Amino acid sequence: MQTVVEQDNRERLAALWTVCEQLLHTPHYKSTYANWLSEALLTHGDKSQSIFDTAAGVGFPAKQLFDAGFKNLWCSDADPDLLRQLLQIVDPKSNSVPVLCVDWQSLPKVVMNQFDTVLCLDASIGFMDSWSAGAMVSGPTKVKARVKEVLKNFYDVTNPGGHFYVGLQKNNNRSNQDRYVMEVGTGVLDGSKATATWDMRYDWDARRKTWNNLVEYRGETHQQVRHSYLFDKAELANMLIEIGFENAWELPTPEFLYEDIIIAKKAR
Ligand SMILES: C[S@@+](CC[C@H](N)C(=O)[O-])C[C@H]1O[C@@H](n2cnc3c(N)ncnc32)[C@H](O)[C@@H]1O
Repeated sequence: MQTVVEQDNRERLAALWTVCEQLLHTPHYKSTYANWLSEALLTHGDKSQSIFDTAAGVGFPAKQLFDAGFKNLWCSDADPDLLRQLLQIVDPKSNSVPVLCVDWQSLPKVVMNQFDTVLCLDASIGFMDSWSAGAMVSGPTKVKARVKEVLKNFYDVTNPGGHFYVGLQKNNNRSNQDRYVMEVGTGVLDGSKATATWDMRYDWDARRKTWNNLVEYRGETHQQVRHSYLFDKAELANMLIEIGFENAWELPTPEFLYEDIIIAKKAR
């Protein structure tokens, strides 16, 4: 099979993510995740609570929540190509789900509303400066300051008394010191066999994880390397408290989820 080393640009990442997303988010993953998330959301509000999915991408889990009756929903993401796919499924003509193309770094400058529940799920947070080949900082002090800067933006768009849900890959833990290989999945997409593997390397000193994204699709192997900031769930919870949330705790996740989830509550 021919290996294609991809150009390091946003469009290629969006294309590869679209393949990975379909392998990772199987119908079973999406529906069981949505049921589980709905139950969690209903512990602190009813279905009319305002929800802002800030890592909406192609629409998971926003679409599933909308279908489950959470209609007071906004979506955003920094990637216009992924949002174009989301717009195909949320029926843009109905105007019922505002969809914004905005990065987390600019959230409070662009979004004047506050929401009862703000979501940054699907293990997205670590990619804040790298998903679209942005400039990353390096080293524990700079990374922590940078992550806190962005977490504060999520705080700002959360209503007093509201909740922020943030997901982190389960493999972001200290038992992974060097390398972790995750079989994302195998399936048939548009009539072609597709397989994705994420080969991840850990540099805890630099606080940087290297993500080698290997996707076999339509008879070719595509490869693209990205980096994300590296921190574990306890560090994430501490940062959430440090930037102002009243409390932060782990929501126990079913084993099939590939992310841990921390909930932070903003004081009234
Ligand atoms: C792991 S994907 C999850 C996508 C989504 N759940 C879906 O169904 O496609 C990470 C998402 O975070 C978004 N993202 C990464 N860095 C971002 C940033 N700084 N601001 C806004 N979105 C960002 C990416 O564009 C991507 O859609």
